[in-house]
Amino acid sequence: MLKTFEQDVIVGLTSAEKFLPSKYFYNDEGSRIFKEIMEMPSYYLSNCEYEILALQAAGIHDKLGFDEPFNIIELGAGDGTKTFKLLQYLLTQKVSFDYIPIDISQEAMNMLSETLHLKLPELSIKPAIGDYFEVLDQLKHTNKQQSLLLFLGSNIGNYPNKEAIELMQLLNKCMKKGDKLLMGIDLQKNPKVIYDAYSDSGGITKRFNLNLLKRINRELGANFDIDQFDFYCYYNPRNGELFSYLVSLAEQEVFLPNTNTKLFFRKDEIIWTEQSKKYNFKEIELLAEQSGFSVVNCFIDSKRYFTDSLLSK
Ligand code: AVI
Repeated sequence: MLKTFEQDVIVGLTSAEKFLPSKYFYNDEGSRIFKEIMEMPSYYLSNCEYEILALQAAGIHDKLGFDEPFNIIELGAGDGTKTFKLLQYLLTQKVSFDYIPIDISQEAMNMLSETLHLKLPELSIKPAIGDYFEVLDQLKHTNKQQSLLLFLGSNIGNYPNKEAIELMQLLNKCMKKGDKLLMGIDLQKNPKVIYDAYSDSGGITKRFNLNLLKRINRELGANFDIDQFDFYCYYNPRNGELFSYLVSLAEQEVFLPNTNTKLFFRKDEIIWTEQSKKYNFKEIELLAEQSGFSVVNCFIDSKRYFTDSLLSK
């Protein structure tokens, strides 16, 4: 049986309109490049969300209305930079809570635990390794405390509308009545600002996209000539959708040896790699409603570029 990665690559690259799922960006190399993206001044998303969590932690805490102790469960905590300020604030206020970061990578969790242990020694951290939904479902049945789920970084924007609703419905199912979800969502704004965040002149976002092809070469033994592909992105201010593509610079053929599959690319043919949807407040309300949540409050940064929206089940 074909492994999922190989299967997905074959399905995507033999389709009439070629695509590669963006979840495959994040191997070790891809995660390193994504960190570089987050440090680019033009990629405003990171700074905006950092500002919200640093300056509005008190407001977020106020709106929770939880009995103590409660849980803060973070889906895909990464290196914890974003969440740090919120955790720090709650500790200075002597709020009683357990921090439960969830990730599939044991290594990422070990690093996060070590860092937080040093920086916030009084934090009660209970890392969980595994699939988000399995861990959440288990917690729902074994843990009586109320929970705040964190799904930050505008990750929801990478899911097409139907999938975003399905994902949120699944999260909703794993939550108890009154539990809250704090979701990082990038807002529609001047299209130039958005376009600049994804088309950096330093070529970091291009490298991030090309890494998909490198990964296929490395893991599936393919022979993509990386120099024969370029990166292109397009933002549609009418619907807030930013689409990213790889572009074949020549007519070319690539071979996948495990399955004897030949892939053909026309000159200028595009491969869709990612969607990064930007929302307006009406769409946020609708998304919440369609997945069983109500919007408690939208915390917004000073530039009004980004929101961490607090939703209640
Ligand atoms: C992870 N995700 C929210 C990023 C985004 O903005 O869509 C991934 C990314 N792609 C290009 N730059 C950043």
